[in-house]
Amino acid sequence: MSTPHIDAADGAFAPTVLFPGDPLRAQHIAQRFLTDAVQVTSARNMFGYTGLYRGQPVSVMGSGMGIASSSIYATELIRHYGVKRIVRVGTCGAVSDGLALGDLVLALSASTDSNVNRLRFAGMDYAAGASYSLLRGVADQAERVGVPVHVGNVFSTDLFYSPNPNIADTLAAMGILAVEMEAAGLYGLAAEFGAQALAVLTVSDHLRRDAHMDVHQRQTGVDAMTELTLDALCA
Ligand code: HPA
Repeated sequence: MSTPHIDAADGAFAPTVLFPGDPLRAQHIAQRFLTDAVQVTSARNMFGYTGLYRGQPVSVMGSGMGIASSSIYATELIRHYGVKRIVRVGTCGAVSDGLALGDLVLALSASTDSNVNRLRFAGMDYAAGASYSLLRGVADQAERVGVPVHVGNVFSTDLFYSPNPNIADTLAAMGILAVEMEAAGLYGLAAEFGAQALAVLTVSDHLRRDAHMDVHQRQTGVDAMTELTLDALCA
């Protein structure tokens, strides 16, 4: 039976779902990294696939941009399709001086300007954190293959275009590594529904240096990060 936003059959998703923002990236990941990949949903062109990686079942589905969109899909994946682990694979804009384009960030925690976790936590401030076991798995895999990672607090913003010209400096002063748009919502809803979540991010922009990856660099960076993440999840 489908949900309001996913037109897949019951049991169509693996317990582990990779969750890129762009549905065409989900298609690319399925084609490039999974064997026997089958498209399981295409409602609103938000494509989802299930296949095998190293012989283990894995799904990949687009989340759309932002907490609002990604929360709809993640909630339906967990509640209706029995998904246990959601790993966002995406890009972020660095604010920390210690980060450079192409660096890998594991979002240990996610601060936010969104109100979603207060809505689900009786108005209180919820400390949105990653699943330790997922994070440790990816960090260990990165160490095995000699890829440096930055592990820390990211900022999940509702506004890609902030009206505050000083926001990047404010975030950096509080030790935030980078800005993205989904992790805090994903971590909050994973807690609400008893699932595990992690955001693995490639630095595609540096907001305090006006530095940006081109399309080719993005593709190469996100592919390398995706492969590392799959190797960790399906070790
Ligand atoms: N802001 C929010 N999300 C992002 C950015 C950014 O600058 N770069 C990549 N994802």
